[in-house]
Amino acid sequence: MNLHAAEKRINELRKILDRHNYLYYVLDSPEISDDEYDRLFRELKDLEAQHPHLSDPNSPTQRVGAKPLEKFSQIKHTVPMLSLDNAFSNEEFGQFVDRINRFLGREGFYDFVGEPKLDGLGVELVYENGVFKVGSTRGDGYTGEDVTQNLRTIKAVPMYLREAQYPVPKMIEVRGEVIMNKKDFLGLNTRREEQGEPLFSNPRNAAAGSLRQLDPKITARRNLDIILYAAGSYDGVEFKTHTQMLEHFKAWGLRTNPHNTLLKTKEDIFEYFADIERMRDKLPYECDGVVFKLNAISLQRSLGEVSRNPRWAIAYKFKPRTAMTKVLDIVPQVGRTGILTPVALLEPVNIGGARIQRSTLHNQSELNKKDIRIGDTVVVERAGDVIPEVVRVVQEKRTGREIPFTMPDKCPVCGSRIEKLEDDIFYRCINISCPAQVKERIRHFAQRSAMDIEGLGEKWAGTLVDEGIVQDVASLYALKKEDILSIERMGEVLAQKLIDAIQRSRDAQLDRFIFALGILHVGEHIAKTLALKFKIIDDLEKATKEDLQQIEGIGPEIAESIHDFFHTKENRILLGKLMSFLNITNPYEGAVAGHLKGMRFIFTGGLTALSRDQAKQLVEQNGGSVTESISKKVDYVVAGDQPGSKLDKARSLGLKILSENEFMKLVQDKE
Ligand code: IVH
Repeated sequence: MNLHAAEKRINELRKILDRHNYLYYVLDSPEISDDEYDRLFRELKDLEAQHPHLSDPNSPTQRVGAKPLEKFSQIKHTVPMLSLDNAFSNEEFGQFVDRINRFLGREGFYDFVGEPKLDGLGVELVYENGVFKVGSTRGDGYTGEDVTQNLRTIKAVPMYLREAQYPVPKMIEVRGEVIMNKKDFLGLNTRREEQGEPLFSNPRNAAAGSLRQLDPKITARRNLDIILYAAGSYDGVEFKTHTQMLEHFKAWGLRTNPHNTLLKTKEDIFEYFADIERMRDKLPYECDGVVFKLNAISLQRSLGEVSRNPRWAIAYKFKPRTAMTKVLDIVPQVGRTGILTPVALLEPVNIGGARIQRSTLHNQSELNKKDIRIGDTVVVERAGDVIPEVVRVVQEKRTGREIPFTMPDKCPVCGSRIEKLEDDIFYRCINISCPAQVKERIRHFAQRSAMDIEGLGEKWAGTLVDEGIVQDVASLYALKKEDILSIERMGEVLAQKLIDAIQRSRDAQLDRFIFALGILHVGEHIAKTLALKFKIIDDLEKATKEDLQQIEGIGPEIAESIHDFFHTKENRILLGKLMSFLNITNPYEGAVAGHLKGMRFIFTGGLTALSRDQAKQLVEQNGGSVTESISKKVDYVVAGDQPGSKLDKARSLGLKILSENEFMKLVQDKE
């Protein structure tokens, strides 16, 4: 292909891929299979690799993340990014309309557009002649940070505006919200918890934290989403109404909210508000109210703004899921691994129908950051699926008599010594027989995703330990009905049920059993990875730290924790006892004879549908193995997004190369 033809094809492919991105992300109705998309993507990548001078940061191939920045540069917004005034009742909404009428000197009602108020991070994207140029955060409304590189990694951000229906303007500053969907937020926090990393307290913080990363590769992995809902300045287009503007956005390929609705009466407004509030928990993102915007742009202009809020729009907030309350005490709570977690005991408050009286403060470092003291008045938030969280201290209410919390040097439950771990962030009770630890270990052991002992929750686990009936998880299996009948409020039926549930759990799966053991840093995911690698528990017991670190997803910290667990005398004794009761099978063991038996795989580049770990697990479940070093012995090279030099090497060795989709087919095709 000559240079001219290559350039033409590159441009064509970029357009085609952009269109399919648009169909997929904006319209939610793809026209081609993932396979076909991959084929086009690969063709473009290959051509770009052959003609590096035609590279373009806006190419669909460039979304996986550019080089890290040293720091963000500042961007001044040409039109300030305003905030919204709030209403909290129908009456206050009425006052907002009255104010508009007063200001315009007339009586009546106007067309409004209702939009879910998204709880994310405000951003502005600048498109010049339809090309994405620069993106920034809202910042203080006047100046934000240049996060162009990071915005490029969000697949719903088009690099080019589409021209199918309306010509693209010379310039437009499009505004919207970068959000993290709840499911991605929960997944991210689960992974962070497994790795012992600090958690994000809500999807908004997670979205902000992910967008404000100097390394765009991290942002790329976070699966952020965006919804556009406003414009700054623009040139070369006119909008009469807000709905018309949203329609243009959508046609240009900018994702808008499908729930946006034109509303013509006050009744419509209140009904819409109630509808969105009802569906609040079912929406994929956090939403804390509804924004109502006057539809006519001419009226918006006449109304203008007052103290950084437009007079023509309002955020009508749902009943708060935050409340102010007092910290009555801060107590250390001993978890199953002995780690002491500071917990705030709160003056009970009702938040969105739930009575909240305690909230974890996570660890000393989180506590220091928020500087929460006993006696403080604090704001507590209960987000949709998220546990209650102390958001901040109300500084104005400080009297000076508040008492900072300090970790005790003796365990509050058993009196043993407390040791400090990791730069004074974590504190741990060294006594593994500490009743608090035992209770938590039993509860953890019995939970559904572990040994699944129905009915054995916090309450009975606590009682069994307090009454001296159970000393460790192994002693559960020796229990007889008579042993527990003496417990207050434990009747014949309940006792039998509990015993039956315990006995049923004797047939267990290895991965669940490993998770049930409660090894520090070993969550469900790591437990599965281990069950894939080690056929039986004895093999895992014998593994060295080095063996463990060879496994993808297991770093030095996790390896050390697993190794320590199996090299602690008490744990070995416990395991011995447990093994005499349990019949453990490994669902992944058959994998050793799976249809990929003996086949070696190598991965290069990023996968989209699953993580490297998951891909590896799939291979291993079916009897194959994954290696890092390329050689003739490798059977398949799976080339994901932005493959590295391994792909070239694979080609020169004449190895079989698979796209992600071909790989998925191969794995799933068991015949
Ligand atoms: S319009 C002039 N629409 O709420 C109006 N904002 O308190 C500018 N927000 O900074 C904003 N959802 O980050 C608008 N549908 C929506 C919104 C929305 C969330 C955020 C936005 C803004 C803040 C205002």
